[in-house]
Amino acid sequence: MAKLEYFGQTYTNEDEIHSIMNSAGILFERWPLHRATSDDQILKLYESEINYLMQTRGYVAADMVALKSTTPNLTEITSRYNKEHHHTDDEVRFTVEGEGVFEIEDNTGEFLKFTATPGNLIIIPAYRRHLFYLTQQSNIRCIRLFLDKNGWEAIYNDFP
Ligand SMILES: [Fe+2]
Repeated sequence: MAKLEYFGQTYTNEDEIHSIMNSAGILFERWPLHRATSDDQILKLYESEINYLMQTRGYVAADMVALKSTTPNLTEITSRYNKEHHHTDDEVRFTVEGEGVFEIEDNTGEFLKFTATPGNLIIIPAYRRHLFYLTQQSNIRCIRLFLDKNGWEAIYNDFP
């Protein structure tokens, strides 16, 4: 179940989470969950949702990413994203399996803490400071969408 921690309160009601995230400029939606095994199957099952986001928000590419305890170089990979950073592209993540924590700056400089679980789509807008880490499960599998896959990298320095 999705969880939002913000200003000392914990929210698990997804309508409340949607409303708070929306106020902070972060898109949160729930998509239906499908049972699938391969990455290609998952991308096919979510084709209509992916196409809708591409058409309405201009994304040009979608792929799958998975992190788990057996992922080679897991510590090195997660260390890129567990420090505060931003991207020049939106960070679009639909969680298919597992869970992960996103700490995301709101519109006022405070950070909210969102635990993504299966069925949750979030879109962190470009240039929004955030960080990401795995939970004790050490397992997450997500669909990602990109405006420009080549330009997607973490930028650690804050704005000049
Ligand atoms: Fe990021």
